[in-house]
Amino acid sequence: MVTEVTQFPASGEELPFYQPQNREVELFSYAWRNQLPMLLKGPTGCGKTRFVEHMAARLGRPLYTVACHDDLTAADLVGRHLIGDGSTYWNDGPLTRAVREGAICYLDEVVEARKDTTVVLHPLSDNRRILPIERTGETLHAPPEFMLVVSYNPGYQNMLKGMKPSTRQRFVSARFDFPDAQTEQEIVVRETGIGPELARRLVELAHGLRALKDHDIEESASTRLLIYTAQLIRDGFEATEACRAALIEPLTDDEATVEALMDVVQASFGD
Ligand SMILES: Nc1ncnc2c1ncn2[C@@H]1O[C@H](COP(=O)(O)OP(=O)(O)OP(=O)(O)O)[C@@H](O)[C@H]1O
Ligand SMILES: [Mg+2]
Repeated sequence: MVTEVTQFPASGEELPFYQPQNREVELFSYAWRNQLPMLLKGPTGCGKTRFVEHMAARLGRPLYTVACHDDLTAADLVGRHLIGDGSTYWNDGPLTRAVREGAICYLDEVVEARKDTTVVLHPLSDNRRILPIERTGETLHAPPEFMLVVSYNPGYQNMLKGMKPSTRQRFVSARFDFPDAQTEQEIVVRETGIGPELARRLVELAHGLRALKDHDIEESASTRLLIYTAQLIRDGFEATEACRAALIEPLTDDEATVEALMDVVQASFGD
């Protein structure tokens, strides 16, 4: 299982850069203070992970990030007995560690996880805030600093899986999308150091590509891809080559669609 533990610098040092889109910083801070769990929805590459990293640092809490996948079980989150030196010992999973430490636990793409995870997430995400560890008989009460954050991408590939209303209705929710043009331009400049004029043209191109969404593309060109493209250009790649490699090919495997999208790129950068 992929778990990342991040302890951000003590306050006073620089926080991970995050440019707010709406009032998500206020909402998250409120939820944390009031011991409410939070659900973030939005397309890939729109800033959800960066936002959680920023908030964890801002609130001075360690962050446990778990990338959920379709084999992820409740035991992966809570823990299991392991064998070592001829005896067995209990090993806390990332969720249990986060509860014990009063950390923020971020379950990315939570709809991918096995259904048995609901059994541990429900009592932890309603006002009981408890984590029963069935195997050891222990029941943990989450300290006030603990927060559960989950995210998913409500794109079409998740339509069937979705999230049960009884789970969804336990969370304060925020919908993320790609930022407005001005904000996205600032993000690209800040993340890559390219000039504002080039950033403006890239964002304009992204808007052109996003307008074509739903034709042959599963997901829009994300802020993440714009940043990759800007990096390639900054490091000497020619604009159309950078766009092909970092903005167009990642969107689709269909060659005809790639060529059609490259026409849009040519119209913006092919001079
Ligand atoms: N509002 C923002 N402020 C600062 N950086 C941003 C913002 N939005 C996007 N980014 C940039 O875009 C990159 C991708 O964002 P991030 O990894 O947070 O996306 P995500 O929503 O978690 O995507 P996924 O669903 O694929 O995990 C970040 O590494 C960061 O460089
Ligand atoms: Mg992410």
